[in-house]
Amino acid sequence: MVLVGASGAGKSTWAAARFRADEVVSSDALRGVVGSGPHDLDASADAFDLLERIVAARLGRGLTTVVDTLGLDDTRRTAWLGAAHAAGLPAVAVLFDTPPDLCRARNRERDRPVPAQVITGQLRKAATIATMLDHEGWDAVHRLTDAGRAAESAPQRTVGSTTRSTEERRSSQGLRFVLQVGRFPWGEDPTAWLTGIATAADQAGFAGLALMDHLIQIPQVGRAWEPIPEPWVTLGLLAGLDTRLELGTLVTPVTFRPPGITAKAAATLDALTGGRAFVGVGAGWWAREHAAYGVPFPPAPERLDALADAIETMRALWAPGTKAAGGLPETTSYPRPAHDIPIVVGGSGERTLRIGARLADAVNVRTELVDRAITAVRGTDVKVTVLDLPTIGRDRDDTWARVERLRGGTKASSYAERTHAGTATQQRDRYGALAERGVDTVFVAIADLESADDVDRIAPIVT
Ligand code: GTP
Ligand code: MG
Repeated sequence: MVLVGASGAGKSTWAAARFRADEVVSSDALRGVVGSGPHDLDASADAFDLLERIVAARLGRGLTTVVDTLGLDDTRRTAWLGAAHAAGLPAVAVLFDTPPDLCRARNRERDRPVPAQVITGQLRKAATIATMLDHEGWDAVHRLTDAGRAAESAPQRTVGSTTRSTEERRSSQGLRFVLQVGRFPWGEDPTAWLTGIATAADQAGFAGLALMDHLIQIPQVGRAWEPIPEPWVTLGLLAGLDTRLELGTLVTPVTFRPPGITAKAAATLDALTGGRAFVGVGAGWWAREHAAYGVPFPPAPERLDALADAIETMRALWAPGTKAAGGLPETTSYPRPAHDIPIVVGGSGERTLRIGARLADAVNVRTELVDRAITAVRGTDVKVTVLDLPTIGRDRDDTWARVERLRGGTKASSYAERTHAGTATQQRDRYGALAERGVDTVFVAIADLESADDVDRIAPIVT
């Protein structure tokens, strides 16, 4: 991003309000580093040498880079544009169309004003650049007038002001948000930790809480020696709390338990919670946990057959009456569930999606694969839900610190992109687009869910 505008146009102020200090490469600041201060013009050559090296190094790593200079030098400006493109990054010009009198007035108030005729020259140049920018090849050119900026900095809608019906919890964008918990850093007190998370999720307005169902912690989420509790037992604890959360798994592999046993657990949970249970089911995929626990792990086609059968068996057991159904000699299952328990099929394989579209209430895929799910359920009443794994910070600095902590061996820029790193407010554009495409529910999993405070951090996505 290259800022363009005369002295006093407000470039540095604008950048400081929107970017982390490290992301802004400023010629003035570098004059202060290699010279006597930000206005030491004798240090300009050294400052720009340094600036070019910093820009090149950051672009090489795919990092956001805001070039805060006057931006009026055509050669330099277009070279930055070319460097961004060479690095495979979009290049954006931001033109500060600040009224000349305002630039001059601000300049006069400074400790070391720029001579008036210098500002006049800059303003004249800036005016000609306005039309040039459109032909230089920028991916976007933003023109900031003072009025535009005032509107932009107007406060966003207040978090937590939404009133919700007691029936269904949907965000203002029409989405249900369910907190998906797959890591359990509960320290010495598992019950207190779980209670804290669930209570915070309820208060934040999440529609539900989903637990991962694995026998060993999966490598994508944590280490094998970290706790990964049996979900139906754990949901029993959550059922005892005073919340309105819907409770279920995302997802239970059909390989783990005969489907009737899962149906029994879910019906019990539904009865205990007055109709707040749901069941996520999948074909299972991780051979290691099956082997470790002596659970058969048949080939994929058989597991997918089992997935379809499991849905039919559960539905038969939950249906009223006791009769032969779904291949069972009888369906004697009490307690009765308190409502129609929704079944969500998880997985993005073609056959999994076909099974989901035919038999389930919803199909769930990773956000990146939402197109597949939308295609699969077209013409049915089956809903689309997504599992979203964002990095959410309180502000730009906090977001970046989290990316650094979580990225492991992945490049920071790749990790940030893959996890849509940003503040909760920034996630809302993405969620709005999903809602428009017909997504019903977002299961949100955050890698650094350590305590109830982290639920509060991400809470604004729910409003
Ligand atoms: P140079 O570094 O000299 O090129 O200027 P610049 O474009 O970086 O301008 P800077 O951000 O330093 O802003 C100049 C002065 O205008 C500062 O005193 C700011 O506090 C003030 N200023 C900048 N933007 C705004 C704004 O949106 N509103 C108001 N009221 N003042 C602003
Ligand atoms: Mg500046």
